[in-house]
Parts: sequence; C-alpha cells; structure tokens
Amino acid sequence: MLTLRLQESEFWMKSKRAEIINAFKVANGKAVSGEELGKELGISRTMVCKYIKGLKDDGYEISSAPKKGYVLKSVPKLLYPEEILSGLQTTLFGKNIFYYDEAGSSNDIAKKMAPTAEEGTIVVVEQQTGGRGRLGRQWASPKGGIWFSTILKPRIALSFASRLTLTFGLSVAKTMKSYGLDAKIKWPNDILVNGKKVSGILTEVDAEIDTVEFVIIGIGINANMSSKDIPDELRENSTTLRDEMGKSIDRVEFLQKLLYEMEQEYIRFSTRPFNEILDEIISLSDTIGKRVNVKMPNRIVEGVVIGISKTGALMLKKNDGTIEEIIAGRCIYSKN
Ligand code: BTN
Repeated sequence: MLTLRLQESEFWMKSKRAEIINAFKVANGKAVSGEELGKELGISRTMVCKYIKGLKDDGYEISSAPKKGYVLKSVPKLLYPEEILSGLQTTLFGKNIFYYDEAGSSNDIAKKMAPTAEEGTIVVVEQQTGGRGRLGRQWASPKGGIWFSTILKPRIALSFASRLTLTFGLSVAKTMKSYGLDAKIKWPNDILVNGKKVSGILTEVDAEIDTVEFVIIGIGINANMSSKDIPDELRENSTTLRDEMGKSIDRVEFLQKLLYEMEQEYIRFSTRPFNEILDEIISLSDTIGKRVNVKMPNRIVEGVVIGISKTGALMLKKNDGTIEEIIAGRCIYSKN
C-alpha cells in the first residue's frame, strides 16, 4: 500500500499533529492535559482525541492518566517527518519532508515533484519496491534502511553535477565517521566501511544545454538491516551499519546529522573553491592507488588510479603509461 502521509492540503493537520508531538516532547514523560492541548492549539477536545488516536495508529505509545491527561510512552522507530523535523538543525535540507511507508523509488517521486517543489525538499521511503542504483542496476531497499531523495536547484552547468555527487558522498562518509566508523569513498560515490559497500548515491539531473533545472540526489544507506536482507544477486560486497557496529542506530538521528552535513557541504560547494572539498574527498578516498577496471557503456579500461581531477574525474594511469580522465563509469577493483 502506498501512503502519502503529508500532502499540501494536509498542512494544517500536519502542523497540529507536529505541535502535539512537540508538546509531548517538552513534557518529557509527564502528562499533558487534553484540555490544555486543545486550548493551546485552538481545537476542541474531540479533535485532540482524534489526533491522539491517529498517533496511536501510527505506532506512538500513548497512555491516558485519569484527570491528568496523556503520557507519551514511546515513539515508533520510523522516519516520520515530525520526528526528523524535531531537532533538525538545517534551514534548507529537509525543510519539507514527504514520507511514504512503501513506494517504488524515492528518486522517481522526487523527480515528479521537482518542477514545483522547493529546493531542499526530501522524499523518504521506508521500503522501496523499485529501488534503483547507478547504471541501471537494482537497489535492494528493505525496511530498516534509510532511502531518501533530495531535490536541489543549484545554479550550475550540467558538467558540474558530478562534483555535486562527490560532495554528498563526502557528507555521507563524514556522518558515518561521527559514529566511529572508518568510512571511505570509493569513486565516484560508494561509501565503504571495512572495504564493503554500505551506501550508494544515485544522482539524476534535469538540464537544458547550459543550466541545470533540478538535481535529485538519491541516497541509500544500509542501516538497521543485515546484509542477508539483500538478495544474493544484489549483495555483492555489501555490509550494513548494524553489521559493522554490532547494534542498531537511531535512524532519525542519523538522518538529521546527514542532512546537516549535506547542507554544510552544499553551502561550501556554492561559496568556496571546489578544491577545498576535493582535498577532503581525496583524504578519504579508498580508490586512489588501486588497480582497477572501469566499465563504460562502450569499453573497459584498466590501470592504476593516481588521483581525482578538479572536475571530479577519475585519473587513471593505463597499462600503456598514458593517463585518462574518466568522468563516469563503474569502477571495479582488480583482485591482485
Ligand atoms: C548505487 O550505488 O548504485 C546508487 C544507489 C542509490 C540508492 C538510492 S535509495 C534512495 C534513492 N531511490 C532510489 O531508487 N535509488 C536511490
């Protein structure tokens, strides 16, 4: 079933619902009076009851204390917009959040919304049934992962879009490092932990010849799941945050941190020379120095990676000693 939880027409409801959740959080485990809530929000007690029922249906555990009111006992472990928004330290990224418990691909939804959506809008899906990876591959997206897409409208030429993708790869790696993980970037934008892929980015661009109309940054993070949840044919060399950390993470907190990192890097991307970001990407690169095969639509090249250029291209020293800059392709590490 496909559920769109927040639509423009539901904005009023969304804000009341968010305000009730917020009141519970401020009360910090103490009872919140239904009457007081109603007065504060300008709604009847019957409406308050309806919102409380809606929250309970969505997995919020709320008890009623006679004459005292309602007590929030626990919140569901889901990426509900209200949960992400409460404590989110960004001004652009995640300002608008669209949430689906199940959908085909968050990138497809974001693409449809993009022409009229505000920059920074995100689409979060708990479980994707048609998750897409780079180069036409499938992307396994079971429950427990973090699958989301961000709509951006940067004023850049099409040729700069690959730099933007590299930049967000850095944001993902930095967020993982803040959890004590030794995250590395495999060109162009796979994130590895202990040599295994834990995250990937699918960037899709709508552009005229000179200017980008919008960019969709689709990020997939294998979070609270096991690599065994990924079908054999898609598993390749994958891992998950839970497998690497030996415990589940708070996905809401992780996404809040990631959105913050993305916003910081986006500001840097827009205001500073790209070299600054590139130096950090290079310092976290897993690919430089490796012997690789790079698969492109019409050929495969082999060589040793000697760097990443200012345009974000992979610099490959080929077997004949010449150097080629590769803008896009699938990079496969050689076994030896
Ligand atoms: C890759 O490594 O091949 C890129 C994987 C990108 C997966 C994410 S999950 C959210 C967004 N929606 C999709 O269908 N794909 C991206």
